[in-house]
Amino acid sequence: MMAADQTVHGVPPSLSAKVVGSFAYLTVRDRLPTILTKVIDTIHRNKNKFFEEYGEEGIQAEKQTIGLLSKMRNELQTDKPVIPLTDSLQDAECWNQYLQKHQKLHGDQESVSWFKSPWLYVECYMYRRIHEALWLNPPISDYDVFNEGKTQSFFESQQAVMTICTHLEGVNSNIENLSKNQLFEHFDKLLQVSLWGNKCDLSISAGQDNSQKTSPIDSLVSLQPLILVNDSNTVWSTLISAQTHARSEKTTVRVDIVLDNAGFELVTDLVLADFLVSSGLAHEVHFHGKSIPWFVSDVTAHDFQWTIQQTMASNHKCMSKIGYQWKSHLKDGVWSYHDHPFWTQPHEFCDMAADAPDLYANLQGADLVLFKGDLNYRKLVGDRDWDHTVGFGTALQGFGPAPLCSLRTLKANVQVGLQPGQAEKLTSHEPDWMTCSKYAVIQFYSSKAEQKD
Ligand code: F6P
Ligand code: MG
Repeated sequence: MMAADQTVHGVPPSLSAKVVGSFAYLTVRDRLPTILTKVIDTIHRNKNKFFEEYGEEGIQAEKQTIGLLSKMRNELQTDKPVIPLTDSLQDAECWNQYLQKHQKLHGDQESVSWFKSPWLYVECYMYRRIHEALWLNPPISDYDVFNEGKTQSFFESQQAVMTICTHLEGVNSNIENLSKNQLFEHFDKLLQVSLWGNKCDLSISAGQDNSQKTSPIDSLVSLQPLILVNDSNTVWSTLISAQTHARSEKTTVRVDIVLDNAGFELVTDLVLADFLVSSGLAHEVHFHGKSIPWFVSDVTAHDFQWTIQQTMASNHKCMSKIGYQWKSHLKDGVWSYHDHPFWTQPHEFCDMAADAPDLYANLQGADLVLFKGDLNYRKLVGDRDWDHTVGFGTALQGFGPAPLCSLRTLKANVQVGLQPGQAEKLTSHEPDWMTCSKYAVIQFYSSKAEQKD
């Protein structure tokens, strides 16, 4: 067995496609090539657009990008070694060092390759190579190949977006008169709406429509039993004590949201952030997005601004009003959008303090950090084959810049912090409970508190 396979100091091995038949294996064998093929098709379909914009140069760039992507698809499908990046983007060196580190772990006999290396690493690497293929081919370097899908998924969720905006407007219009209990009930609902918004990602569906079609509010009661860990009470009490502390110290409460997908999920996150600010539970919300197109549907700065613009431009009165409110939150600095290259690197978050100390220090300024989605969860717990009853705090392996909470629907076979027997019971009824995105967690950790661990 290689070093990377072994349980070192109680840390279990990384999930990997080398386990034939595992979800990681099926993802690398089937889903990633499907996503790559769609990327190639999208670029090809836009050939005329590139020609119109850039003439012959656009056509050449399209051809060469497709050539690079087809080559990568072949490398993936034939389990070739992972190769260094050749663009000179800011993070390329870091990626190449990461490769060297993994090569050392593998030893001299075997190369780091698509099926033999940690799944988290190769999956992230594929998206970075897509970026490289485009980047190396100006004038289409900045083309977001996932933009069409993200835009479409926003429009396909329109009804649900209107419903949630109307709901928010109703809550906000009476917010001053609400008792603490009523405020908690609204908070709890909107936290769950944001949680279930994470069902709508386009990576698990390999780009197929996965938008929100039903009312996000009406379905909450029936979805409740599917929340396997629900720490919403602790999240609430964290906010309340931050508020009390801020009042006595004359400071502010800051909540950070590490975003996941554009489309309906982003709207649910903005709605939650709006409520946090309108209710006075938070004075500032920092959103963290991706600096390059990522995992098909993840939010970039462009997606973030576009979504707010679209909300403002809606014919639906409530939606438009709320869109304007969001714009003024941004203008007033109550909301801010941030990106950092670390979010689009393959590292487990326990590496953040050493590898991105500026980002770690920044998150330490938050009173609460909400991590949206499956990929963030995988990175929080290192995408390892943990026993399901291991505590969340243990699986975080020292990561804890601030009190944090993962809002995640399960789409990868890693889950910690369950009760003894809970996983076994789920497996006996539904063997794919960890990957079917039917189940979810609201899982909290704080290094300060009396731990649940
Ligand atoms: O596990 C399936 C998967 O597509 C992973 O590739 C990735 O971790 C995840 O789902 C993406 O989901 P999310 O958008 O929730 O991070
Ligand atoms: Mg995503």
